[in-house]
Amino acid sequence: MHIELGSTRPENLSTDVLVFGIHGKGGRRSAAWRSLNTAIGGGLERLLRLQSWSGRPGEVVSFPAPAGLRARLVAVCGLGDKGTGVVGAVRDITTKVSALTTKAGLGRVAFYLEPALAVGGSLGRPTVQALGEGIENGSYRFDRHQARGEAPEPSEIDSVYLYFAGRKERPLLAAAIERGAIVGRATNMARDLVNEPANMINPATLEAFARKLAEDRGLGITVLDRDACAERGMGAFLAVGRGASVPPRLVHLHYKPAGKIRKTVALVGKAVTFDSGGLCLKPAASQATMKMDMGGSAAVIGAIAAAADLALDVEVHAIFAACENMTGADAYHTGDVVTAANGKTIEVLNTDAEGRLTLADALHYAGGLEPDLIVDLATLTGAVVVGLGPTIGGIMGTGRSLVRDLRAAGDRAGEPMWELPLPDEYKELLKSKVADLANIGGRWGGAITAGLFLSEFVDKGMPWAHIDIAGPAFLDKPIGGRAYGATGYPVRALTEWLAYS
Ligand code: BES
Ligand code: MN
Ligand code: ZN
Repeated sequence: MHIELGSTRPENLSTDVLVFGIHGKGGRRSAAWRSLNTAIGGGLERLLRLQSWSGRPGEVVSFPAPAGLRARLVAVCGLGDKGTGVVGAVRDITTKVSALTTKAGLGRVAFYLEPALAVGGSLGRPTVQALGEGIENGSYRFDRHQARGEAPEPSEIDSVYLYFAGRKERPLLAAAIERGAIVGRATNMARDLVNEPANMINPATLEAFARKLAEDRGLGITVLDRDACAERGMGAFLAVGRGASVPPRLVHLHYKPAGKIRKTVALVGKAVTFDSGGLCLKPAASQATMKMDMGGSAAVIGAIAAAADLALDVEVHAIFAACENMTGADAYHTGDVVTAANGKTIEVLNTDAEGRLTLADALHYAGGLEPDLIVDLATLTGAVVVGLGPTIGGIMGTGRSLVRDLRAAGDRAGEPMWELPLPDEYKELLKSKVADLANIGGRWGGAITAGLFLSEFVDKGMPWAHIDIAGPAFLDKPIGGRAYGATGYPVRALTEWLAYS
């Protein structure tokens, strides 16, 4: 992708789509806007009114470029009120513009966002990075299993122009766009993995994907097959995989920076490539999207890919215990007592609360690497979706500053997280009559009791955060300009956190 910053006036620039960011409904416009208006003989404001322009942040209206311009389309976009944070608006705008550009088979976009970018004298790195992210995320489509029919072949964006008067800042801003594009592509990688159905992505093909990634990016990779997991006593994880014909395995990817290492983090992702519920079978409608139940692993794969591509100075371990939760003849039974790798015994009161069993052993494995911090990501509970809805993740943990930093990174990256408490008192809810722990905590506070269950497998004193991504990993209907299907949540937040916390 060719990235250029410059100060060519919009009427003189040869591009496919001219994008204007404006503040509010009416009021004072930028010099670029006024010169465009003059070039086309006036009437831009009237055009906006005809399109019922409201000025809301993230709003996009587009129309064929009037005569006198060297572009094909003009897109006018809402930046929100002047002086307010524009990072979210810029991400939404570029995502939408990228979608409409590539759908039309066009490839060159030019952004005139100067009123926003001039706020505070300079545009922030996160804002410009969001532009790069939006470009990549907006052109994403998952149509490889569909006949194209009459629809034209969609294009990709190959050229981005950003109007920016200050010369000194241009290289930095171009680099920020490039960073955003890298993060956007890592997000799309995670989306592909999650969107791909369970007959395509299973523990074996997910391992193969990780091996290929390791080769391409120069990452270390260790895979524990079923026997190796058994030797390490991973009885909780292996129990879940017993009902499936593809055997379970634990995959550990390792990114080691070339230079000085600022910190070492372990990212653990839930990797249930299909969750039927096991013998406590889910109803059909609930099974329909359970290919997404490896969204945690997709997120850690995307994050480690981005860390390597950006050559971050943070050592990253990405770990996932991959299995299918099925109902084969050897499936684990409801009521089974299994022993996790840390020696704790668990009574399986519900085979559909399987994610926490796989994570118990994966978290213990991560602890053995002695990282500075552990973060796990999991499509763990329906309860978190009831509580927080489709776009916000639930974060819990023992590391106070870790939780704070992740939330701040999530806000900058447009992937918000809301903290839920881990009250000691609720541990009583996980009591079993026959084992150290039960794998369910009753009807209430399901996301919290799941988090408390996981905390039993992280050593005291280890800063740890758990992000329940069951809502935002996959959208069963579009919201806020985000498309149907896998979102890649929270690859952008994780990468932002790795790079800047
Ligand atoms: N994978 C599901 C959680 C889930 C639900 C993810 C909806 C995405 C969307 C998880 O394994 C599960 O089945 N959880 C149960 C736990 C219960 C049995 C305690 C749930 O949330 O119903
Ligand atoms: Mn389940
Ligand atoms: Zn599950």
